[in-house]
Amino acid sequence: MEIRVPSMTPSISDLEVDYVADAVKSGWGDKRSKYLDALSAELVGLVNLDFCTPVSHGTSGLQLALHALDVGPGDEVIVPDLTWVASASPIVHLGAKPVFVDVDETMCINASHLRSVINPKTKAMVIVDLVGSAPKWDEIRDISDEMQIPVVEDATESIGSHYKTKAIGSLGTLSVFSFNATKLTMSGQGGAVCTNSSTLNNRIKSLMHHGIDAELSGKYYWSNELGYNYQMSNMQAAMALAQMQRIDKLMEFKRQSREWYLDSFAGTALEIVPYPREVDSNAWMTIGIIDSSLGIQKEEAVKYFQMAGVDLRPFFYRLSDMPTFATYGRSYDLRDSQIGSALERFGICLPYGYDLTIDQVKYVAQVFKTMCKEGI
Ligand SMILES: Cc1ncc(COP(=O)(O)O)c(C=O)c1O
Repeated sequence: MEIRVPSMTPSISDLEVDYVADAVKSGWGDKRSKYLDALSAELVGLVNLDFCTPVSHGTSGLQLALHALDVGPGDEVIVPDLTWVASASPIVHLGAKPVFVDVDETMCINASHLRSVINPKTKAMVIVDLVGSAPKWDEIRDISDEMQIPVVEDATESIGSHYKTKAIGSLGTLSVFSFNATKLTMSGQGGAVCTNSSTLNNRIKSLMHHGIDAELSGKYYWSNELGYNYQMSNMQAAMALAQMQRIDKLMEFKRQSREWYLDSFAGTALEIVPYPREVDSNAWMTIGIIDSSLGIQKEEAVKYFQMAGVDLRPFFYRLSDMPTFATYGRSYDLRDSQIGSALERFGICLPYGYDLTIDQVKYVAQVFKTMCKEGI
């Protein structure tokens, strides 16, 4: 079946082409970090923190952030159960135990569950701002301060959003962005770690380059501790910089697309999940929940839509159900997880490309209505 509505397509203007061409032609030697430095400055401006270090991926950024906090064997790290696997896999790579907590109506971690799972082994919390939304940050920051548990903010899906007056990506002890090809602002692959702590930022810079810190050792090719090669390239930074300079326009389009979805699905059996009142969202991706009375699971809907040429995606699965993480169990009872279960069983990710048109959105809604009428 020919794809009529792709899941995601990026927005590439002359600015991206010019910056990348410049980086390819002349971004070497003494200009080898020209775009990396400019990207870093742009992100610092966005989140109003002191340091933002570009890295190879959001995933590696999360691993670096947790490593910089000395997470390791014997430690527990709190993380939401419904999120992309990359929020949790760095915890396991570092030898620590992920403690899976349920989500609430924000689609993010249920802040009121945190106190009950914190114990002396809790080393950090990975708090995810999922799909343009954000959890109850006021509560989370109070708990983090009171119990002295640092927070790694996984802001990969919500760059540009705000929680009250605070930019998403400014709320953790360390915060992580992603520039993978599906993200609001992208460079194919890429990420960044932001923080106000110069100590943590220096550690991130050292760890992402094999533990080399020439200032500390006074020697150039000298590794002070075991690290990684998790650096971003100047060419990727050129792309990410152009996208960041266009972020307002990109968000405008996303917000417009969301309005199209809200209009087209009004009165249907698909609930477009609202963002919390406190969140001014980037509208990166619109999530719908199929009315459970239809008895249509998300996978069945995905197949149906794909047959109609719509590259629909299912909402995330519970990490604690996956073979990769099942041995760690979950910290809550499934019977208490109404919102999580609705998202997990009936949640769908509506197409969110930058080529999306209002006619395509109307077509997606028409396919949905036909599915509801005729059944699977
Ligand atoms: C919630 C979440 N966390 C982490 C990541 C990891 O980012 P990346 O794909 O850049 O490694 C992503 C992106 O896919 C994500 O959506």
